[in-house]
Order: sequence, then structure tokens, then C-alpha cells
Amino acid sequence: MSSDLAAFVRGLPKAELHLHLEGTLEPELKFRLARRNGIELPERTVDEVRQTYDFHDLTSFLQVYYPAMRVLQRAPDFHDLAYEYLLRAHAQGVRHVEMFFDPQAHTGRGVSFDTVIGGYRSAIVRAQREVGISAELILCFLRDHSAEYAMATLLEALPYRGWIIGVGLDSDERGNPPSKFAAVFERARHEGFQLTMHCDIDQQNSLEHIRQALEDIAVDRIDHGTNIVEDERLVEFAKSRGIAFTCCPVSNSFVTAQMKSAEITGLLERGVTVTVNSDDPAYFGAYAAENYTALADQAGLDSGQLAELARNSFRASWITPARRERYLAEIDEYVDRHRADRAT
Ligand code: HPA
Ligand code: ZN
Repeated sequence: MSSDLAAFVRGLPKAELHLHLEGTLEPELKFRLARRNGIELPERTVDEVRQTYDFHDLTSFLQVYYPAMRVLQRAPDFHDLAYEYLLRAHAQGVRHVEMFFDPQAHTGRGVSFDTVIGGYRSAIVRAQREVGISAELILCFLRDHSAEYAMATLLEALPYRGWIIGVGLDSDERGNPPSKFAAVFERARHEGFQLTMHCDIDQQNSLEHIRQALEDIAVDRIDHGTNIVEDERLVEFAKSRGIAFTCCPVSNSFVTAQMKSAEITGLLERGVTVTVNSDDPAYFGAYAAENYTALADQAGLDSGQLAELARNSFRASWITPARRERYLAEIDEYVDRHRADRAT
């Protein structure tokens, strides 16, 4: 990657659409929160924490990811997590974020829904006021728990619906197909939420899960989902419906053997709305800009293709059409300016 292209990526206006707030817990903040809450951690140093990041698949990642959350206890803890992430994203040219949170990972250990969402919301308001980044929350249900528990969580969220733009589905996909949550997503749609859902990479029954998400649940977006390339009919279906895919190249390289760059760029070339995102940046060591540059390095993308990925991020976002047009025009101006600078 030339330093010129890396600088181009950092300045490129973009939206982040696949970001787990709990996946932005950097080891330094983990220690700070542990100290603040009087929690003893098994690791003594940042390096020791990073040594536990030895992932080879989704399950081994989740086994490290969920236990780490116990340092999050009070509203200011959730605030600090989201606020620090939003400042970092802003510094990388991210203008808008639609970010996942896992309320059940907290309510399940006795932290109230209000504490979680209150902390996150205060960070969103503060970051918007201070640096101008906009952010929305997507409530994710844990798919390795019951559909009844997910439905109860949805009902618990209804008083906060003005602070939540959509619902999603994450955690361990094995044996937990989209169909298990059909009634929950139906109710969420009825309540006015946008719908998205993880279809993780190279899972058992990946294609059938993607089919269920697209045809039976009728989601608006799919998180990951690049196994769709194995089924021509489904690719055409997704394309005709304008379904977007929130891809996470660096995350893919941790939980599978590859970034899946051929799948991502193949879909981009076919005109499917694929986007580039960071998933759990504190764990995978790559925020939005580093995901664009990693993919560009791997797949040999040029500035034109990177700009198209950034345009897709706004096309796939759940902002108003007027705002979308403004961001798209900003990208065009940015690309023109970059071209003019290079010509002089
Ligand atoms: N897949 C499933 N669950 C997750 C992920 C993911 O990519 N990130 C955080 N929780
Ligand atoms: Zn994810």
C-alpha cells in the first residue's frame, strides 16, 4: 500500500455498518474499567491480554470476547467504551456509524438494560456534539440463546425505540439458524425497526442461512454473508432487491484462513452493494481505514474501487435519502480533489 493510498483512505468519507461496540474494548480501557470497578483480571499487562487473542474460528473468538465484558458495569463504563470508539472512528474519516450492541450479554449478568443503553446513548450525543460524527444503535439478539429470551429483550427495548434504529443477530451460528428467530424479527419489523442479521463466514449451512435471511425473514442487510457467491440465484436475488452486505476483511482473516477478498471484490464487480467494516476492531487490530487498506493490499484495489466501497457504505446505511445524497456528493468532491492534487 502506498502512503498516498493510505492517506486517501483515511480522508475518504465513509460509514461504518458492522461494528460491535463490545468489540471496541481495547486492553488499556479494559484495565481502566477493571480498576474503576474493583475487578481482578487474570492478565497483568496489555501484552498478556493480547496473547489471549489466539482465534482460529468464530467459537474461539467468542470464548474470549464475552468474558471480557464483565468490566462493563455502570453507565459511565458503557459511555467511555462508545465515546472512545467514536473519536477513533471520526479520526479515520468515518462520518456515520450504525453500531451493534448485545444487551443480553449484560442483562444476563445483572446489568440493567437502561444502564447499558443510557451509557451508549450519552456517548452518541456527546460525540455528535463535539466532533460531528453521527451514530445509531442496532440491538443484536444472541442466537445461541432462546427465541423466547430474544422476544423478551425486544419487548424490554420498546420504551427506548427512539434510540434504536434496527435489530440484528449475532454470537454462535452453529445450530442457530435465522428461522429460529422468525417471529422475533417479524415483531421487530412490525415495531418499525430495520432488520439485519449475521450470516457468518463458512458456517455449517451458510447458504441455507443466507437464503432464510433473504427470502423468509426479508432482512434489509446481511452481516458478512459472502458465502452467497456459491449460489448464483441468491446473488441475483440479493442484487435485484438491493440487499447490502457488511463485510469485514480483517475479521474474516482471524476466524477463517482468509480475508475473502475474492468474494468481496467479485460481488463489488457484479454491482452488489458490498461494504467494508471492522467488526471487532480491538480484537482484530484494525479499525475502518485499516480494513479498507488491508482489502486494497490483498486484492489490488485502486482509489476508484475504494471510493465505490465508501459510496456503498452510505447507500447501505439507514440514513435519510437527503443525507445520503450529501455524503455521495462529498465523496465525488473528495475524489476530484485527490485527482487534481495528483495532477499538479
Ligand atoms: N459474528 C458473530 N458474533 C459476533 C461477531 C461476529 O462477527 N462479532 C461479535 N460477535
Ligand atoms: Zn459481527
